[in-house]
Amino acid sequence: MSIVFLNDAFMPMEEAKISPMDRGFLFGDGIYEVIPSYDTKLVGFGPHIDRMQEGMDLIGIKLDWDHAKWAQVVNTLIEKNGGGNLGIYLHVSRGTDSKRFHAYPDNVAPTVYAFAFEIPPANVADKAIAKTYKVNSTEDLRWKRCHIKSTALLGNVMHFQHGFAEGCNETLLFNANNELTEASACNAYIVKDGVIATPPLDNQILPGITRLILLDILAKDGSLKVEERVVTMDEVENADEIWVTSSSKEVAPVVEFNGKPVGDGKIGDVWLKAQALYSAGKYNY
Ligand code: PDD
Repeated sequence: MSIVFLNDAFMPMEEAKISPMDRGFLFGDGIYEVIPSYDTKLVGFGPHIDRMQEGMDLIGIKLDWDHAKWAQVVNTLIEKNGGGNLGIYLHVSRGTDSKRFHAYPDNVAPTVYAFAFEIPPANVADKAIAKTYKVNSTEDLRWKRCHIKSTALLGNVMHFQHGFAEGCNETLLFNANNELTEASACNAYIVKDGVIATPPLDNQILPGITRLILLDILAKDGSLKVEERVVTMDEVENADEIWVTSSSKEVAPVVEFNGKPVGDGKIGDVWLKAQALYSAGKYNY
């Protein structure tokens, strides 16, 4: 049985109820996070909570919770749901109003919802057992504030469906200039001649915590060169390797892009090194 947290109490998922007047339901007016936990060890708890707080600040949701309060909820959810490999989903919506009016209401308490769900086991840096990904592509038609981890995800959902419908695991998104932004629910990278390149942080992409941790680990190690820069469609088509990262996938190797093999169609050596470094360092964040 899945135990969830809603507004100040833990309860079985079936008992968790919110009003249909909740602005999260009516407007997608909220902020969310997904934090991975392997055998009760969290990856990136601090940066995830910081990003959620930044999102709430950006959209004017006032919730006076510090890291300790979030840690209590997160750790209790892990414990009540049996540990294992869990994604911890945290959601703060602006709350329940008595009317549907677009402007931010005063004196409405935010709705806080959290649950745990099973995620795949942590990646192992081993080409023989790593899951490989296929992706296709489409124009990024989401809004101009993709740096906010908003619960309004219809654009992402439609882009993910574009890949899913064609048997792909993800969809790479390109802006109107044919520059890579990210994937529908992941950040994206290419490798060419041993050099890793990923789009820079701006309003076109989510500042992924896996990206943050990976780039920090790679910078400290120093053996792999990383460039944060514009990446064109042409470069993606001719890449030796493509990866996508997210909290539930870690560093995921992509072996097919738009129906064609990436490089030699096999998992690359740079992925192997990067995932090994990520596996070794991820719990330090
Ligand atoms: N997705 N970009 C987008 C659009 C995302 O939705 C996500 C995460 C990422 C990677 O961010 P992070 O490394 O912090 O997980 C990038 C989550 C997992 C989701 O929506 O389920």
